[in-house]
Amino acid sequence: MHTLSKLFLAALSLTTLVGAHHPSRAHSRHRRTAGRRQSSNKTYKIQDFYQGEDFINDWDFFTGSDPTSGNVNYQSKSEAQSKGLAYVNDCDNSTVLAVDSTSTVAPGGNRDSVRITSQKSYNGGLFVIDASNMPVGCSTWPSFWTVGPNWPTAGEIDIVEGVNNQATNQMTLHSGTSQSCTIAKSGVSADLFTGQVLGTDCFSTGNADAGCGVEDTDTSSFGYGFNNAGGGVFALLWDTSSGMSVWHFARSEIPADLTAQTPNPSTWSTPAGFWSAQSCDISANFYDHQMVIDTTICGNWAGGAYSQSGCPGTCSEMVANASNYADAQWVINYVAVYQ
Ligand SMILES: *[C@@H]1O[C@H](CO)[C@@H](O)[C@H](O)[C@H]1NC(C)=O
Ligand SMILES: *[C@@H]1O[C@H](CO)[C@@H](O)[C@H](O)[C@H]1NC(C)=O
Ligand SMILES: *[C@@H]1O[C@H](CO)[C@@H](O)[C@H](O)[C@H]1NC(C)=O
Repeated sequence: MHTLSKLFLAALSLTTLVGAHHPSRAHSRHRRTAGRRQSSNKTYKIQDFYQGEDFINDWDFFTGSDPTSGNVNYQSKSEAQSKGLAYVNDCDNSTVLAVDSTSTVAPGGNRDSVRITSQKSYNGGLFVIDASNMPVGCSTWPSFWTVGPNWPTAGEIDIVEGVNNQATNQMTLHSGTSQSCTIAKSGVSADLFTGQVLGTDCFSTGNADAGCGVEDTDTSSFGYGFNNAGGGVFALLWDTSSGMSVWHFARSEIPADLTAQTPNPSTWSTPAGFWSAQSCDISANFYDHQMVIDTTICGNWAGGAYSQSGCPGTCSEMVANASNYADAQWVINYVAVYQ
């Protein structure tokens, strides 16, 4: 989420979408053996289940200026509630986190939005979000991610992220401690995950924070494709001994054991992304993470990649257009943490 050089990755991924070339080939010189994915064969137990008003009561509303330079005014809890930007649907207990879609804003001005952070922090486990809608449209940059203190020291895990008209989800690790934290996809590791590697070096600093990204290949994993499919589920398995895995499940593909709240990820399909503990010291690089859900507008990534995204005019002009944000909403069924 913290990302100057995601601009570079965005350019790569857009190129991929039009099929011009495959960025993973650019990284083939960095071949490594990633080793087997061996997540523990265990049924995880529920620790925290967030639903309905829990997001409003048990998560904090961030009100600082956007660290990624987006054109947003992040709203306090009371402002977000009174402006209808954070509320619970009575019919199904889903939680809406929205961008203001009624006010006119000056071109290049800031539009009201919401960014919430879990009060609890975590050092591993299975993190699941079920959403029926994610924010879409030119200039939007939604994300569900986790982050530790003193960025980037304690690391960052971007589980769901993308910008503008992006068609597939981008998952990224940012390590802040170890320069030797990497991801590799080649040879023996090719069957370990289905996504496409965008960058192999996870180490991030203020000036070089692209991280090691993997792009999903499934167009129901992000944006309009996700929403048109009725949304779905993303799951991060953060296992200090085997590594980090991220899955996207379309609604019809959600594992029965997850629906039953007795998930055993070792029985699931191949994940979209996998970062092996054999090429990254997980516990040294990722600790004390809080979960974050937000939507920013323009900023370093959505603004920087705007013209390559096939969006009309400029990002600054788009932020002025209220009707562009009618569907710029998270509609969340739940977030669960299992350990
Ligand atoms: C996982 O454990 C169960 C019982 O504890 C066993 O039946 C099953 O074969 C194991 N699966 C794998 C993949 O090791
Ligand atoms: C709605 O969510 C709240 C938590 O905010 C929970 O206590 C309640 O049981 C849920 N209601 C239904 C009908 O699921
Ligand atoms: C405003 O945004 C909407 C939805 O994206 C679009 O249809 C419309 O053309 C835009 N209007 C202007 C003046 O850009």
